[in-house]
Amino acid sequence: IRIFVPGDSSALAVGADEVAAVIAAEAQQRGIEVALVRNGTRGLLWLEPLVEVDTPEGRIGFGPVDAGDVPALFDAGFHAGAGTHPLSLGVVERIPYLARQQRLTFARIGITDPQSLDDYLAHGGYRGLHKSLVMAPAEIVAAVTASGLRGRGGAAFPTGIKWNTVLKAPGDEKYIVCNADEGDSGTFADRLVMESDPFVLIEGMTIAGLAVGATRGYIYVRSEYPHAIARLEAAIDTARNRGYLGQNLLSTGRTFELAVRKGAGAYICGEETALLESLEGKRGIVRAKPPLPALAGLFGKPTVINNVLSLATVPIILDKGAQYYQDYGMGRSRGTLPVQLAGNIKHGGLIELAFGITLREILYDFGGGSATGRPIKAVQVGGPLGAYLPESQWDTPLDYEAFASLWAVLGHGGIVVHDDSADMAKLARYAMEFCAIESCGKCTPCRIGSTRGVEVIDKIRQGTQREQQVVLLRDLCDTMLHGSLCAMGGMTPYPVLSALNHFPQDFGEPALPSI
Ligand code: NAI
Ligand code: SF4
Repeated sequence: IRIFVPGDSSALAVGADEVAAVIAAEAQQRGIEVALVRNGTRGLLWLEPLVEVDTPEGRIGFGPVDAGDVPALFDAGFHAGAGTHPLSLGVVERIPYLARQQRLTFARIGITDPQSLDDYLAHGGYRGLHKSLVMAPAEIVAAVTASGLRGRGGAAFPTGIKWNTVLKAPGDEKYIVCNADEGDSGTFADRLVMESDPFVLIEGMTIAGLAVGATRGYIYVRSEYPHAIARLEAAIDTARNRGYLGQNLLSTGRTFELAVRKGAGAYICGEETALLESLEGKRGIVRAKPPLPALAGLFGKPTVINNVLSLATVPIILDKGAQYYQDYGMGRSRGTLPVQLAGNIKHGGLIELAFGITLREILYDFGGGSATGRPIKAVQVGGPLGAYLPESQWDTPLDYEAFASLWAVLGHGGIVVHDDSADMAKLARYAMEFCAIESCGKCTPCRIGSTRGVEVIDKIRQGTQREQQVVLLRDLCDTMLHGSLCAMGGMTPYPVLSALNHFPQDFGEPALPSI
């Protein structure tokens, strides 16, 4: 009997290791032969630890399972697929939260054993690489361009166009860098990929190397992700031992080497040029652009720098074809977006869907409303630098352009929910404070502006010369927006001004002047 207990950090955090140990001990005591597989989470996080049992009908799920539930589960015959225990969820793939999704990037996650290359191969892994190995570099780039894939780190720049710049750039050496410094609040999709399907990222980076002529890649992972780092390092070793990495890739004479590098906890190292500085062993300070990293990136060489999700989506594009991917989505937002639903929400988790679904559907059809049961007041999309959206904007489809028209961003797909007890002035203050703490200090609007911003919001909240302070805050935001060198200072006004504009009552009545 195969029993699956997730081994990624979202399941480990709620006791999955203990549950697995008790299942093994209980099975032995009862003389039942059990093969325990440590899969990744399905992304239905409120059900973790979600234990699954293989049956002829499909995998039957039970969750959330506490170690103390295990004897009763055996008594109820869960190991034989009996669904009579109160924790039974039926066939996992029929749970509406999962059944309604369109999983492309996350196609294998929760299904396979992330440590097994054979399992990866058995579920379509490395088909994209095999196809790429017989394609010319420009053909690979053309396929990625035709798929419509845009950078999933948040900026949504077309991946194929970026690769084309690197392909055409002269250089004796080129690099592929994966940005795995997932720092946005409420985001965890990169971590899920690295922990629960590391080979897909390795394959995507290898294809990128073939496409642009790079022979070396680095995955820059935040230090807060030790489990992801361990999983990646183990997967890289396995891939290398089996000929999927290193010199003479799959006996083709091609080379691609890969290594993991650990960040040191600075949010700004998620900004691509600060990341490159850090990777070079220096302090993570933003570089002025141009030159673009695509032309002069790591160690001054042409460099592809992409987010985990962008690179992990490349294998399916090469495997199934650009058209297959491009058929999903709306407008210029092609393919799927792995949405991460977090904050004050009943059913938080990972939801991969084609662009076009509305925020309201995500919040209620998937999320089931707030965890507290109180009305939802504001939703922050796109991380700590993303705008707060009030209910009047929740019917907007998830689409880069639709969000831009609201002066909001989709970013990396993180959604953080707040109920009606949220104080939006306090959250606006937090955005400025976050910027003051995380600023790299290179430019004045961000370094000084964020500190002044905290002071101004404090005065507004205290009611001191409120109207003048609001004018000052808007003026300050305008300077930060237009005068900052990177998105850190340049986007902090998004949460601040959206809070002020949509929730003026939290900044004090009467209605505030706007300029
Ligand atoms: P950007 O718009 O300056 O650049 C986007 C990407 O396209 C960069 O990699 C840039 O080098 C590349 N690029 C631009 N023109 C190019 C060309 N002609 N040829 C080749 N490459 C070209 O945006 P930036 O500053 O890199 O990212 C800002 C975004 O990052 C924000 O919108 C925010 O959503 C997101 N973000 C994500 C976080 C996360 O944790 N994932 C954290 C903070 C911000
Ligand atoms: Fe550094 Fe902030 Fe300027 Fe970005 S905006 S370069 S983080 S000081």
